[in-house]
Amino acid sequence: MLDEELRGSLTRKIAGIEHPRELVVDVMFALQEHYGYLSDEAVREAAELLDMSPLEVDEIATFYTFVYREPVGKYVIHVCDSVICWMGGYESLRDHLCRKLGIRLGETTADGLFTLLPVCCIGYCDRAPAMLVNRQVYGCLTPAKIDEIVAKLKDSAHMSGE
Ligand code: FES
Repeated sequence: MLDEELRGSLTRKIAGIEHPRELVVDVMFALQEHYGYLSDEAVREAAELLDMSPLEVDEIATFYTFVYREPVGKYVIHVCDSVICWMGGYESLRDHLCRKLGIRLGETTADGLFTLLPVCCIGYCDRAPAMLVNRQVYGCLTPAKIDEIVAKLKDSAHMSGE
């Protein structure tokens, strides 16, 4: 359930504009930040705040790559599968990531650390193949570089007690 502080701040923000639905993306991200993903409950709450139907919110949510309608890991890896990255070895890097994490595209590791998702071109073609981790971009990927990135993320998670 939405806490009163967040509800209050969103309500004030929404009250300040003429067409509340213009804030649908902001509200979805705020609720996603709160819940960890945009749960069904969050969709209903966003709809109520914005005077929209849950279906309308859901339709917009599913359009956005960075809005998650299912639980995701602490680190969401979006691996680019568009043409330049494809030519730069996307398939073998994707397979390497899957093996390394022990999951398939669309899945989350059992420890809740990593979710692996495909994404369309992220505008880093000059440093393809590329991927995002929690929206931070990494380019010129190789299996060794991926191993290094994953190891650092695991270390950082362990240091923060996860
Ligand atoms: S095709 Fe992968 S970053 Fe553009």
